[in-house]
Amino acid sequence: MDIRVVPLPVDKMKTKITEQSQLGFGKYFTDRMLVVDWKADQGWYDARIEPYAPFVLDPSCAVFHYAQEIFEGLKAYKWADGRVALFRPEMNARRFNQSGDRICMPEVPEELFLDGIHTLVSLERDWIPTAPGTSLYIRPAMIAVEPVLGVHPSNHFYFFVILSPVGAYYAAGFKPINIMVEDHYVRAVPGGTGEAKTGGNYASSLKAGLEAKKKGYDQVLWLDGRERSYIEEVGAMNMFFAYGSHIVTAPLSGSILSGVTRDSVLKLAPTLGYTVEECPINVNELMADIRSGKVTEAFGSGTAAVITPVGKLCYKDECLQLTGGNVGDITQRLYDTLTGIQTGKLNDEFGWVSFVE
Ligand code: COI
Repeated sequence: MDIRVVPLPVDKMKTKITEQSQLGFGKYFTDRMLVVDWKADQGWYDARIEPYAPFVLDPSCAVFHYAQEIFEGLKAYKWADGRVALFRPEMNARRFNQSGDRICMPEVPEELFLDGIHTLVSLERDWIPTAPGTSLYIRPAMIAVEPVLGVHPSNHFYFFVILSPVGAYYAAGFKPINIMVEDHYVRAVPGGTGEAKTGGNYASSLKAGLEAKKKGYDQVLWLDGRERSYIEEVGAMNMFFAYGSHIVTAPLSGSILSGVTRDSVLKLAPTLGYTVEECPINVNELMADIRSGKVTEAFGSGTAAVITPVGKLCYKDECLQLTGGNVGDITQRLYDTLTGIQTGKLNDEFGWVSFVE
């Protein structure tokens, strides 16, 4: 599909943030966005890149009432030689459509998803920050815009992509975070929407997150919704635990997100001499293994969070420190290797990187 590029008037061009250490996460947006319409009787049409601006939407739109919405997250990196790299964008395209299928949204052809991102990022390449730990975060999303209050799949959607120059997801940067295991609220249940990247999952996590923050934790770690005994994920990250050089993570049970970074860690870790295993992780056994020193490190993985070390894990009344509250060697190596591949400092043996023309 042709993508029309609407001219960007000079007075709509924003001032770029020059102090890259101040970027934070998701606070600034570039000059342009991609928008494509879909209607039941027309399919996808009118793909255009237009100046970044608010949408004008009818208050009755389905997205506002019934949360028919999905999104993705990936990043573009500007390499030292000036090339612009994307990391495994086809994985995001596939997961986007799996999420959409779960909540009855039309499939976005992979070619449209990828061409749209390539064209937009290419036009906005001057926005890509280059300081260590920074990148251009790409947020594709789809919303239901049919103005009607009946509960049924919408017959009109917008697929859109916005871009945000970002630094670290957690304000403290690459530092160990403290995590509270949530034993009251649940994020997802078998058969629910837990593995879809849909806004409702994040809305329903806010209360637990806020309560955890008040108690001094950075994030909550969700348990399975049926027995509340097995580790699932931390909203913005999948979780890994190292038993010496053996690294375990929860299996894709249907109620956790199939993370692109999770998959990359599972493939990368064996090349660094570690063994990996996807297996159910019982929270009581995990706490006992941290207490006895069998678990030596814990970290989270995610596009926004990259690899994030865990300093403390707290469950019920017990708080256990990991790796002496420092960044563990495995965590550091995985972070360095992954970001090395993403930024062109290390060889990409996996063929994960593609370039924007
Ligand atoms: C990502 O890592 O890209 C995510 O979508 C997590 C997010 C909620 C910031």
